[in-house]
Amino acid sequence: MNPFQGYEEVLGLASSYYEGARVPWVPTREELLDIVMKLANITHNDVFYDLGCGDGRVVIRAVKEGALKGVCVEINPTLIEKAKENAKSEAVLNRIEFINEDFFKAQISDATIVYMYLLTSVNRALKPKLESELRKGVRILTLDFEIPGWKPMQIIEVALPMRTARLYLYVKGYSDT
Ligand SMILES: C[S@@+](CC[C@H](N)C(=O)[O-])C[C@H]1O[C@@H](n2cnc3c(N)ncnc32)[C@H](O)[C@@H]1O
Repeated sequence: MNPFQGYEEVLGLASSYYEGARVPWVPTREELLDIVMKLANITHNDVFYDLGCGDGRVVIRAVKEGALKGVCVEINPTLIEKAKENAKSEAVLNRIEFINEDFFKAQISDATIVYMYLLTSVNRALKPKLESELRKGVRILTLDFEIPGWKPMQIIEVALPMRTARLYLYVKGYSDT
């Protein structure tokens, strides 16, 4: 049984359930990518992680925007393969590291930007890892779901046909104190 059925229905989007995943695959909508990139303010020194990267669209876009490196962490092996295929067809395969692993176990200490489109409960569970592994100044962007207890530096609301999307920007060392 798919435990995320209600969540999928609320968002009204196609998704797929993978055993062991803490969140189903619901891709970031293409029309939000420009805003995500603007908020991330990517530079040539940035190492951009997407925790639960799905088909890789956000990481692919981040390296195309000029990030030094992208890291795609995804538990679902089918999605990691899809992300690799997509990166290959966008000619950025060699600029992205693909990690087929539970994001709770992944090494993230070299990140300068972390993107997460998860759930509030999962963000809460990831908080100790973010607090202990990320360096001061790292930007953390979350879509639709906040990091409970952290102070966002910026929130952007975007009206979509069926709902309003909300993007949160946190900065390690400021948002978490
Ligand atoms: C809502 S989707 C977001 C996909 C992508 N970040 C995007 O914005 O298009 C969440 C993703 O997290 C993955 N995921 C869920 N639990 C995970 C875990 N414990 N470790 C790694 N990936 C996970 C799912 O398979 C899914 O692809």
